[in-house]
Amino acid sequence: MNTLRLRSDNCGDLQTAAEILKNGGLVAIPTETVYGLAANALDAEAVKKIFVAKGRPNDNPLIVHVASLEEIPPLVEEVDPRLYDLAEKYWPGPLTVIMKKSDTVPAEVSPRLDTVAIRMPSHPDAREIIRLSGVPLAAPSANASGRPSPTSADHVITDLDGRIDAVVDGGACSVGVESTVVTLATEPPTLLRPGGVTVEELEAVLGPIAISPAVLEKLKDGEKAESPGMKYKHYAPKARVTVIKGSFENYKKFILAQKIPACAVCFDGEGMYFENAIEYGAENDGASQAHGLFEALRKVDESDCETAFVRCPMIDGVGLAVYNRLIRSAAFRVIDLDISIPVIGLTGQTGAGKTTVSELLEKDGVYHIDADYLARIAVENSEVISALADYFGNDIVTDGILDRRELARRAFSDPIKQKKLNAIVHPEVTRLAVEEIHKAEKSGAKAALIDAALLFESDLTCVCTFTVSVIADEEIRLERIMNRDSISREDALIRMNAQKNEEYYVSNADVVVSNNSDDITKEIGKIIERL
Ligand code: TXA
Ligand code: MG
Repeated sequence: MNTLRLRSDNCGDLQTAAEILKNGGLVAIPTETVYGLAANALDAEAVKKIFVAKGRPNDNPLIVHVASLEEIPPLVEEVDPRLYDLAEKYWPGPLTVIMKKSDTVPAEVSPRLDTVAIRMPSHPDAREIIRLSGVPLAAPSANASGRPSPTSADHVITDLDGRIDAVVDGGACSVGVESTVVTLATEPPTLLRPGGVTVEELEAVLGPIAISPAVLEKLKDGEKAESPGMKYKHYAPKARVTVIKGSFENYKKFILAQKIPACAVCFDGEGMYFENAIEYGAENDGASQAHGLFEALRKVDESDCETAFVRCPMIDGVGLAVYNRLIRSAAFRVIDLDISIPVIGLTGQTGAGKTTVSELLEKDGVYHIDADYLARIAVENSEVISALADYFGNDIVTDGILDRRELARRAFSDPIKQKKLNAIVHPEVTRLAVEEIHKAEKSGAKAALIDAALLFESDLTCVCTFTVSVIADEEIRLERIMNRDSISREDALIRMNAQKNEEYYVSNADVVVSNNSDDITKEIGKIIERL
């Protein structure tokens, strides 16, 4: 299929769009929120085509767009009088209202539901196309399912070229995130999706409303989504996204410590500090972030980055909508860098006595975090496993358990694959480490200690206040390893030589602890002093 490109300033183009719609075709149209993929809402066959073109799960209902209030009574069982109050204030605009549906609305629009979602957009092209086609238009966002919603005609073409009859280019969308969705079919009304109309604005008309748990959190297994669209992974670029909470200072340190180049998706004016920066709006300005968000997520795809770390918006006003989209694009991975205790990164040469040092610090009220253990836990996370399986082949997973040896065999043969493996696993290890640090804070520990053999090779230094290397003379380490592991001098030497040299541990660390004598307390004093 050849996808026509139409423009509102071309004479007759909106009429062409309307004709295609009247004949049961699909046209992507601009709205003030995002581009919508429209079909005649009263034509079940046309509506079915939307699901095919987008690859949309067939239980995810569509919003019906109207241009005037008169079009609504035939679509619903009964018009809830509160609709008029909402319409007076926020329509036309970025608000969708759900009510009990009438039989006029085909089941395909709201699969398995007895309700229908209705919105009156304010974009002049959208309104004119609805008026010219003479029917209400069912329209989800005009992206391929799972991808960021389109805020320009080019985004639509990127996702759906050749799969739809036409796209009307009406320029960039002003709001930039999808409409607020509220249902009047519950008592009190429930916010199902935050958007350009805020909770405060809804409550000014409706009184207190409920907020669906899916707005801010991942649904638990088996929990039913009030809005089916909220249960899917969504808005996601191909790179793995993680949301980073906390100050810019902490964010900057975090990004600069990453071993694999990552996209820094940050606020306006912050990008100059990073190699791969994408700015998405002004800090503390939800509306400007909403406007830039999806474009930024699409730019992540155009970069070569395997990972992206996004500055967290304020979670109120329109910022709530931005956060809601972001955590979905991140499959709910959030790292909170607001940490109130010092974090020590500890590493050392084999046989130097890293364990002794960490045990002594633990006795002194320092919370111990074992990074090797976290690296094992990270690959037990089902979301990580499915990302690994997607890339390395489904046969590396049996009954939900990862074959780590086979994964290693496939990954270590090729630097690109190795990079991909790290991009999937490292952010999860960091996330787990930061979770542990927050546990340490809650437990009243005076500091947390990340114990990692490969500390300087990992990204974990990004959350360390300072790093410590434990070293000892070669002869002493040899003795210790032979005694500890009952191995020969030759084998002990092989192990020692497999590691980096002393210079590496000394030059990378902020504090060097030399553990040659039995009395190490004085050396530990150096660490305590730093705390
Ligand atoms: O701003 C917007 O709302 C854009 C433009 C094109 O109007 N449209 C849009 O549609 O975002 P879509 O399909 O991407 O998102 C519709 C959301 C989904 O989360 C869906 O589950 C929910 O609204 N929804 C639609 N009808 C519903 C219903 N009857 N009950 C519960 N949720 C419904
Ligand atoms: Mg959508």
